[in-house]
Amino acid sequence: MAINLKPDNFIYPYFVINGEKKKQEIKSFPGVFRFSCDRLLNDLEKVNRLGINKILLFGIPDKKDNLGSQAFKENNIVSLVIKKIKNNFPKLAVFTDVCLCAYVTHGHCGIIRSPVCGHRSAVTGHLSPVKIDNKMTLKALSEIALRHAEAGADWVAPSAMAKKQVLAIREALDKRGYKKTKILGYSAKFASNFYGPFRNAAHSSPKFGDRSSYQLSFKDKDSALKEIKDDIREGASMVMVKPSFSYLDIIKEAKFRFKKPLAAYNVSGEYTFVKYGARQGLWKEKDIVLEIINSIKRAGADFIITYHAKDIAQWLKD
Ligand code: PBG
Repeated sequence: MAINLKPDNFIYPYFVINGEKKKQEIKSFPGVFRFSCDRLLNDLEKVNRLGINKILLFGIPDKKDNLGSQAFKENNIVSLVIKKIKNNFPKLAVFTDVCLCAYVTHGHCGIIRSPVCGHRSAVTGHLSPVKIDNKMTLKALSEIALRHAEAGADWVAPSAMAKKQVLAIREALDKRGYKKTKILGYSAKFASNFYGPFRNAAHSSPKFGDRSSYQLSFKDKDSALKEIKDDIREGASMVMVKPSFSYLDIIKEAKFRFKKPLAAYNVSGEYTFVKYGARQGLWKEKDIVLEIINSIKRAGADFIITYHAKDIAQWLKD
């Protein structure tokens, strides 16, 4: 059976910043920008015309601290943007990333109490694993999700890989009456080499250590499937595999085993891989993008989060 890609299959990611009239180019990430709200609304006109009806927001604050407080304060950047979007594009489904890495000074996805972790031992030469305080992190993530829900987000997408994050957020939302706000779990999120350009965009690279104590090993298929199962039990309405084209086997198996809508994240490194190759004349951008995105769909993804979404929607129109 042939696959039919439709604009409805895509979720288009945006990086949002404070200020006005800003559309910042990200050097390592061609074609992707950081937008202030006004410029984002202009861009959404195009997205809307192309028939893309889902977007995913990543906030980038002006200031960082150890608790990520800019993420859950009343007028945080993401909530401000959601309200404007909902006023102007009421039918657009707004997904928000719920994480701390762009908001904390150390760049990890959760709250860290002891600053000594993640350092290299002078004796063994090994890195001590980064220790996230799970309880404090769940509290912060729940507060972030609540702010986004209050502002009108349709979906919140926790990506911190904190234990029981979906359950904590589901309970917090339900308790405050946001039963209709759904959760997209970044369920099978691998500790991947493909996130580099994103971290430049979001200023979210870890300042020490790496994310291997909370993201999954790419050698481990069973844990990935278990994480998906757990997220569904905890109340996720949609689950995700991330990255995508090195993980088609996981996508296929997740689709086969679980009867939930499934998203795949075609991440920044996968996107730039294609872009740089096209610039070097190694392949035609359109041809290779369609091959890759079709393979992700064929493997079983219902929705694909991709920076190529606008281009694909345009090609589908032409
Ligand atoms: C943060 C987060 C990351 C991405 C989405 N949410 C990066 C990371 O784990 O460092 C990556 C997306 C991309 O590469 O496009 N929690």
